[in-house]
Amino acid sequence: MSPEPAATCRLVAIPGDGVGPEVVAAAQAVLAAVAGQSGFAIRWTTVTAGGAGIDAYGRPIRDEDLAACGQADAILLGAVGGPKWDDPNAPVRPEQALFALRGGLGLFANLRPVTVHPALVESAPVRPELLEGVDLLIVRELTGGLYFGRPSEERRAVDGSRSAVDTLPYGEDEIRRVVRLAFELARGRRKRLTSVDKANVLATSRLWRKIVDELRPEYPDVEVGHQLVDSCAMLLVRRPAAFDVLVTENLFGDILSDEASVLAGSLGMLPSASLGERRTAHGAFGLYEPIHGSAPDIAGRDVVNPLATILSAAMLLRWSLGRVAEAEAVERAVARALDDGFRTPDLLPPGVAPEAAAARGLRVVGTRAMADAVVERLPARPPGEAAGNGSEDDVATMVATDSLLGLL
Ligand code: IPM
Ligand code: MG
Repeated sequence: MSPEPAATCRLVAIPGDGVGPEVVAAAQAVLAAVAGQSGFAIRWTTVTAGGAGIDAYGRPIRDEDLAACGQADAILLGAVGGPKWDDPNAPVRPEQALFALRGGLGLFANLRPVTVHPALVESAPVRPELLEGVDLLIVRELTGGLYFGRPSEERRAVDGSRSAVDTLPYGEDEIRRVVRLAFELARGRRKRLTSVDKANVLATSRLWRKIVDELRPEYPDVEVGHQLVDSCAMLLVRRPAAFDVLVTENLFGDILSDEASVLAGSLGMLPSASLGERRTAHGAFGLYEPIHGSAPDIAGRDVVNPLATILSAAMLLRWSLGRVAEAEAVERAVARALDDGFRTPDLLPPGVAPEAAAARGLRVVGTRAMADAVVERLPARPPGEAAGNGSEDDVATMVATDSLLGLL
C-alpha cells in the first residue's frame, strides 16, 4: 500500500435509511468540490448501518464497523429508521446504531446551531419580526440520561398487567463537561447561556443546576439563566432572538431542537455536530448529521432538502478537519443558493404551491439540483488562498476553535 499524502483525511459515510443516502450523496459532492479546490484528499469508507444494517447483517451496526468509525477523522451520517423496522417487539431497532455511535465513541456534546436565513423568513410559520436576530446554539448532552439509563424495559406482573420503566441518571462529571463546553461556546458568541432543566420535578435537573452555578464564577463574562424546559419551549417561539447558547440534557435537547427548527423555516435546514474527547491530526473527531429523520415518505424521489447535511459537512470541515475557511465557504454558498431563489419543496412559504413559486422568483429544485447550486456557488479559488490564508475573522475563529478543542 502506498503511503497517503498528509493532506488526506479519512471520512466514514453512513447513508442509513430513507432519505439518508440522498442527503449524504449531496454532501459528499459538496465536500469533493471543496477538497478539489483546496487541494486536500478525502478517503471515504462507507458503512451500512441502521435499518440497512439490520437487513444486511441482522444488526444495526457491526462491531467491526463501529471500530472503523472510531479510527476515522469524522463520520457523516444521513438518517436511520423507517416503518419497515418499527415493530415495537423487534429485538433490534435501527436507532440502536445511533446510540452505539454516540455512546460507543464517547460523543457527548451535540451542537445544533439554529440560524434564520433572511430569504427563509417567509417560510417559517412565525411572525417575521420575531425572527429578526435569531441565532442560537443548542448544546445537547448526548450520551447520558434517559437514552442510556438502565433499566429501560417493559415488565409483566404475575397478574399479567404490563408496566414499563426508563431511567434518567446523570453523573456530575457528565454534566460538568458539557456545561463547561457550553460556557466556552457562549464566551465566543454573545455571552449568554441558558441552562434548561426541570428542576421543580427532577433530581437530575437539580444537580444540573448546582453544577451550572458552581461553574459560573469561572465565567464572569457570561450571563447565565436557568429556564424550566416547559417555559423554554414557550419562549423559543415567543422571543427566540433572546437566546444565545442553550445547554440541556439529552431528551430536552432532542425535543427543543425540533421545535427550534421551525424558526429556520424547515427541519431540513438544521445541521448537527457530535463531539467527544478524541482528537485527530486535524481537529476533534466527530459525527455529523442533519437533525431530521429518515423521512421514508419522500425517500428515493430526489425531493429531500440536502442543506442540513451540507451544513453538517461544513461543521465537519470546521471541527474535525480544522478547515474554517472552507466551512465558511460552504455556508456562504448555501446562503447564496437560497438568495438566488433555489428551494426544495419543504422551503416554500406556507400556502405557496410549487406552480406558483416562479412568480415569486423562486426555483423549486430537487436534492441533486440543490447540491449542484451550492457547488456552483463555492468560491472559484481555494478559500484559504483567496483570503490570503485567513482573514482576521478566520484567524480568530481558528484560535477559538482550537481552544474549544482543548476542552473536549
Ligand atoms: C435526533 C433523533 C434521534 C434522537 C432519534 C432518531 C433516536 O431524533 O437525532 O434528534 O432522539 O436522538
Ligand atoms: Mg430528534
